[in-house]
Amino acid sequence: MTILVTGGAGFIGSNFVLDWLAANDEPVVTLDALTYAGNLANLASLNGDSRHHFVRGSIGDAALVGQLLRGQGVRAVVNFAAESHVDRSISGPAPFFETNVMGTLHLLEAVRAYVAGLDETKRQGFRFLHVSTDEVYGTLERDEAPFAETNPYKPNSPYAASKASSDHLVRAYRETYGLATIVTNCSNNYGPWQFPEKLIPLIIHNALNRKDLPIYGDGLQVRDWLYVGDHCSALRRVLEAGVPGETYNIGGDNQKTNIEVVRAICALLDAKRPRADGASYAAQITHVTDRPGHDRRYAIDPRKLAGELGWRPAEAFETGLARTVDWYLANETWVADVTSGAYRDWVARQYG
Ligand code: NAD
Ligand code: DAU
Repeated sequence: MTILVTGGAGFIGSNFVLDWLAANDEPVVTLDALTYAGNLANLASLNGDSRHHFVRGSIGDAALVGQLLRGQGVRAVVNFAAESHVDRSISGPAPFFETNVMGTLHLLEAVRAYVAGLDETKRQGFRFLHVSTDEVYGTLERDEAPFAETNPYKPNSPYAASKASSDHLVRAYRETYGLATIVTNCSNNYGPWQFPEKLIPLIIHNALNRKDLPIYGDGLQVRDWLYVGDHCSALRRVLEAGVPGETYNIGGDNQKTNIEVVRAICALLDAKRPRADGASYAAQITHVTDRPGHDRRYAIDPRKLAGELGWRPAEAFETGLARTVDWYLANETWVADVTSGAYRDWVARQYG
């Protein structure tokens, strides 16, 4: 059997593929369009590994997806492929709807056609796992209960609206066509191979390059941070034991304000790579104009996943953040490549 991982060259997708193949021998086909956020270097340790097959292409290409599903005898699809950055969705929403909504629609159509051709046993065993976000639930007040699976959808950014639309599509394919879909809604991830447009890697990168550390507004917005390896272990568990038609919220109960997170990164860097002038990296913190429609607080209630499937996160925020800072300090070449545009040039040369 084989699984198809879409968006597997991005941040969470590549962590998932690596963790999957470290945990078992079931082969993986990775389908990724290699946008600016996708990076084959993330999967370089799998070069020459016969259990992994990489294909460059889009989830919007139903013919290609159909070919891969049939050719590899796929028993499950894990869909990470998306445009994922809120700020980019604010400056240019269209690609978010092309990929996250229309791409998901074409992917679902290819999967529906494939599953219809399977024998009864294989059809029963097939799963479509759609990886989504807590941002579909909107924002919480300071004392409001964390997001449960029963919360109404109230997306506030174009990114969140596009992910909410894709979740609805996935649900509709379950209800209308009986496809064995499962949706997961996860909180903010951090860890290795996160593109330095997102808060934690951006702050590390800017700090080391003596640039401002931009805090949107007052910096008191709250996010519920989960180490990426814990997200991956939750997805493996959901794929293994999750019930088709259900949704599962994934989170690690690590609510922090943005300013707390940035100060924690500065403290780690002060200890691990002190500034030559002896000053703290915190001196680089600068408050800038707030993000339009900025959600004030996210928090996940993970009790369904814990109670029904027995999943627990392994990493505390403090240790996970220290591991992450260590990874970025040890992988400055990766950061330099993805931020210089050199990687995109390589992709153009390699794939034409
Ligand atoms: P990312 O931006 O790092 O990676 C996205 C990947 O998808 C890239 O490799 C990109 O090349 C690929 N891609 C884009 N368009 C594609 C297409 N049309 N066909 C095939 N591949 C395509 O994103 P991420 O942070 O790894 O997030 C992965 C998924 O998890 C997304 O669906 C996102 O909404 C969801 N999610 C992310 C977080 C988070 O904190 N990062 C939290 C919860 C859920
Ligand atoms: O909650 C899950 C979501 O988390 C995922 O669905 C998204 O794909 C992922 O990008 C993330 O969205 P956020 O908008 O929460 O993440 P980001 O890293 O962009 O920002 C985290 C917080 O930090 C947010 O409150 C905005 C703030 N921020 C961000 C940047 C880039 C700053 O204050 N300054 C910055 O420069």
